Amino acid sequence: RKKVGVLVSGRGSNLQALLDACADPAFPAEIALVISNIPGVYALERAEKAGVPTLVIPHKGFATREAFDAEMDSALRAAGIEIVCLAGFMRLLSAGFVESWRERMINIHPSLLPSFKGLHTHQRAIEAGVKLHGCTVHLVTPDLDDGPILIQAAVPVLDSDTEDSLAARVLEQEHQAYPAALKLVAEGRVTVKGPRAFIRDDG
Ligand code: GAR
Repeated sequence: RKKVGVLVSGRGSNLQALLDACADPAFPAEIALVISNIPGVYALERAEKAGVPTLVIPHKGFATREAFDAEMDSALRAAGIEIVCLAGFMRLLSAGFVESWRERMINIHPSLLPSFKGLHTHQRAIEAGVKLHGCTVHLVTPDLDDGPILIQAAVPVLDSDTEDSLAARVLEQEHQAYPAALKLVAEGRVTVKGPRAFIRDDG
């Protein structure tokens, strides 16, 4: 089983989906460390309940982004982490950190990329009048919310939707898509060619 480190900043519902998937001994990955940049968030409680080691590295204690990232990098490597999952981790990462985890770091973003990079994706989707919205799980490259796409899931946008109702519909899909994408990476079924990720079908 591949050792996974999950970086979080908040509620941790995607972390929970990953923890639940990894609870199955047949799943090809296990979560060996959860790091939060914010103390006291619910994601930390979820990890503790699942018996997974946690670490709080408050970004505020570091003079530079690079110094903060270097601290996370040491912790991940000390724990023998092989794959990093960003799960609602709300910090930009330095190019050096991203490079050093190239093709081994995964992010989930609450839109159908390349639409709606950045924040407030659900509100922006409603305002843009799109009829389909969704989520994207992708490999991380130094550009924000960019990188080879592993899995996307689409949901309808209804006339009656509010930001919250749309977010909830997308979140349900996130919880399916993230474990599925981690499985693909952990099984070594992903090949990157330029901007695209090709998935080998092992039946
Ligand atoms: C999720 O919707 C995730 O896609 C999003 O934050 C939420 C975290 O929820 N991520 C981003 O916006 C990344 N820029 P969670 O903590 O319950 O998983």
